[in-house]
Parts: sequence; C-alpha cells; structure tokens
Amino acid sequence: MRYLITGGAGFIGKSLLLKLIEDKNNTIYNLDKLTYASDINLLNKFLKINDYSNYQFLKVDLANELKTFEAVEIANPDKIIHFAAESHVDKSITNPSNFIQSNIIGTFNLLEASRNHYESLNSNRRTNFRFHHISTDEVFGSIDNNDKFHEKSRYDPRSPYSASKASSDHLVRSWFHTYGLPILITNCSNNYGPGQFEEKLIPTIITKIKNNQTIPVYGDGQNIRDWLFIDDHIEAIIKVLNHGNVGDTFCIGGFGEMTNLKVVHKICDLLDKKLKRENSSRELITFVKDRLGHDKRYAIDSTKIRKELNWRPKYSFDEGIKITINWYLKNK
Ligand SMILES: NC(=O)c1ccc[n+]([C@@H]2O[C@H](COP(=O)([O-])OP(=O)(O)OC[C@H]3O[C@@H](n4cnc5c(N)ncnc54)[C@H](O)[C@@H]3O)[C@@H](O)[C@H]2O)c1
Repeated sequence: MRYLITGGAGFIGKSLLLKLIEDKNNTIYNLDKLTYASDINLLNKFLKINDYSNYQFLKVDLANELKTFEAVEIANPDKIIHFAAESHVDKSITNPSNFIQSNIIGTFNLLEASRNHYESLNSNRRTNFRFHHISTDEVFGSIDNNDKFHEKSRYDPRSPYSASKASSDHLVRSWFHTYGLPILITNCSNNYGPGQFEEKLIPTIITKIKNNQTIPVYGDGQNIRDWLFIDDHIEAIIKVLNHGNVGDTFCIGGFGEMTNLKVVHKICDLLDKKLKRENSSRELITFVKDRLGHDKRYAIDSTKIRKELNWRPKYSFDEGIKITINWYLKNK
C-alpha cells in the first residue's frame, strides 16, 4: 500500500507514520512544509537508526499548487491522510493569514491534485483509494453543560483556526459529493502525548514545572476539554481508514473531559512526586487574561465509532499523562 501523509513531521502525523512504516510492504511519503511546529530531526534520527528504506520525505508547502500536484504524482498514493495544517489557536488570533493559506488553500490544492490522481487510477486502485481528512471538534464551537458534539452537530467555529478547519471540512465533503472523490473525515478532541510541540497546553505545563517557572492558565481555568491520548487517536484513524464507509464522518473523543485547572493540578501533583519537590508546584499557577473568544467547553459523543468500528480509547487520562510526563522528563 502506498501512503501519502501530509504534515507527517507534526505531532499526530508523525505518530501515524511511525505506525504504518513498521509494515515493510507499505511505502510512506511524508509531505511537509516544515514549519516551526514540525520535528523532522528526531524523526530522521529514528528512521536512520532503523534503516527504513520504505520512506521518502517531500518538502512541500501545500499552498503551492504546482509543487502539490508534483508531490501527489511522485507519491502515487492509494491512501492520502491529510494532517498538514497550522494548528495553534493563539497563533491564528495573532496571524490568521497563515491559517487561510495552509488550511484552506492548502486543502483545496491537495483535493484538486488528489482528484487528478484518482481519475488516473485503474478501477482496482480506484476502489481502494481514500482521502482521509483529519479535523477537529473545534469546528462545532462551544457546547453547554450536558450536551456533546456528534457527527450531525451544527458547524459553529469561533476562532480563525477552527473557521479554517471548518472550511477545509466543507471543501473535502464537497469534493465527495461533486466529484466522487472517496473521502473520510474524522473530528477529534484535544490530543496529548509524547513529542507534542511545546506551545500546546500539556507540554507547556510540564516544561514550566520542570523549569520552576510560572504556569500560565487562561481566565479562571474552568474551560473544559476532552483529552485523548495520541495512541488512541492513531488507532481510531487506522480503523476509520480501513473500515469507514466512503463519504462518512466520525467524531473521536477521549472520554476524558476535564477543566484546564484540573489538568494543571494533576500534572503538578504527579511531577511533585516524581521530582520529589518539597513545595507544591501548584504555587506556580498564575491566572492570565483569557484568550479572545475562548470556547468554554468541548465534549464528544463517540457512540458512532464505538458501535460501527468497535473503537474506544484504551488509555485513561491518568495512564496517558504518566507516559507523557516520563517522555518530557527524558527528552528536551
Ligand atoms: N493536536 C490536537 O489536539 C488536534 C486535535 C484534533 C485535530 N487536530 C488536527 O490534526 C492535524 C495535525 O495536528 P498536529 O497537532 O499534529 O499539528 P502540528 O502543528 O504538530 O503539525 C502540523 C504539521 O503540518 C505541517 N504544515 C503546516 N502547514 C503546512 C503546509 N502549508 N504545507 C505542508 N505542511 C504544512 C507543519 O510543518 C507540521 O509538521 C491538524 O490538521 C489539526 O487540525 C489536532
């Protein structure tokens, strides 16, 4: 099977890539622009040590139409898994333009290149071809107390990041209805795990505690997120890619709803134990001015993927966070 993974030098794409590459019958192409959020050195080091010859890297910006078409032609894929995106909400508030270029124009270029490629395939390869778009629960906006997002929830994005992802979801779906491109979409809750870039909440907290620096918490820390351990997300993606019906959407949640403050407290307490600190790291918590348009709560109803594809997360937050903390203590 030939795979083209976009954004394979980022947190989630890299994790899928490392899983798929284990099967030497798979050929993996990693298309990435290498923004500040990518981590190609660690990936290259790992791939070199393990002598993977079934891997090729394509340094391409999806906003470049010509290069994107060339890359899809070189990779000649059976499956495209599209992770590449600008992904940090705060950066989308200060500099939305990159998000429009990468997430909307980039997805459009990739869809057109994929359509061109799909139409050139013989009928056997066409049957197996899939374009899997990786999206977020943030496209649904913020939700009130007992409700949960599901596959039929109304789109209501509220940040430039979530609006750009919502836009890309609509483009992907329209390429299915209009051109018959065999797509799949997954909308996932907040991921965490080893190797996530430092700007995201959990690595920020761990790093601040490690360095004995103040831990910034937005507003009153009562915003709620549904945390999903990276390995569980990867397993869900593989199930959807292999068994999801063409054109379908799946919501993936972690069964791990928690306020940001509770997440910070848990990490403080675990690290205090590990580092044998006398003073509680909770003393480092500083409440800072809230993020503009900060969504109050995200929560996902994962019934569909659980029932149709027999998926549910294997890691509780308490298990996943210990693995994550251990990784950040060992790695820079
Ligand atoms: N991290 C999460 O919690 C989460 C949750 C749900 C969905 N998602 C989605 O999953 C995907 C991957 O997220 P992540 O956390 O791994 O992101 P990340 O920021 O760690 O990695 C994104 C990768 O995409 C690449 N990229 C960005 N713009 C590009 C462009 N124009 N052309 C080519 N490559 C480009 C970057 O260089 C980087 O390697 C994103 O689409 C994101 O919206 C993330």
